[in-house]
Amino acid sequence: MLKMNKRAVLPIIMMVTAFALVACEAPPSTTKDETTKNTTDTSGEVQFTPLAVQGKIAYDKNCSSCHGSDMMGSQIGPPWIHEIYNPGHHNDMSFYRAIKQGTVQHHWQFGDMPPRPNVKDEDIGGIIQYVRELQEAHGIVYKQHRM
Ligand code: HEC
Repeated sequence: MLKMNKRAVLPIIMMVTAFALVACEAPPSTTKDETTKNTTDTSGEVQFTPLAVQGKIAYDKNCSSCHGSDMMGSQIGPPWIHEIYNPGHHNDMSFYRAIKQGTVQHHWQFGDMPPRPNVKDEDIGGIIQYVRELQEAHGIVYKQHRM
């Protein structure tokens, strides 16, 4: 199910772990998305699913000001197109948590993320889907997270 090459993944795990020693008590992600779709690296050509297209609207409104319209980050927030946010390290629960409770600064130097009370519950799934599809298009895919 998780087709993993331990040898190739180990250095990445070590990097990620070094980044993450402080936080991220998230339980191991349940990988519900096992698709290994073929992806190109040209995110301009990504074929988003309808759910992701919907999520993009909510993302642009509520998240892009900090995480960037292209998810490459901004002066005040980190990029989603980044190895530390692969779904094995930041699973879908971490999105719910960040939106509902905010998150204290731990991976970066941008300060805390305040909660986003304006995001409707029904939009959260779409936002996550949009993030995951764009990540995957950039080769950010599930990697098991171990401490
Ligand atoms: C005001 C700026 C700002 C906005 C708006 C914002 N974020 Fe963030 N977010 C941040 C910062 C800063 C961090 C990094 C905190 C750290 O790890 O140091 C972050 C981190 C996160 C994390 C990682 C949490 C973790 O467990 O490490 C998630 C998930 C997240 N944001 C989701 C979202 C989503 C979804 C939206 C839109 C609904 C959003 N953010 C809007 C600033 C923002």
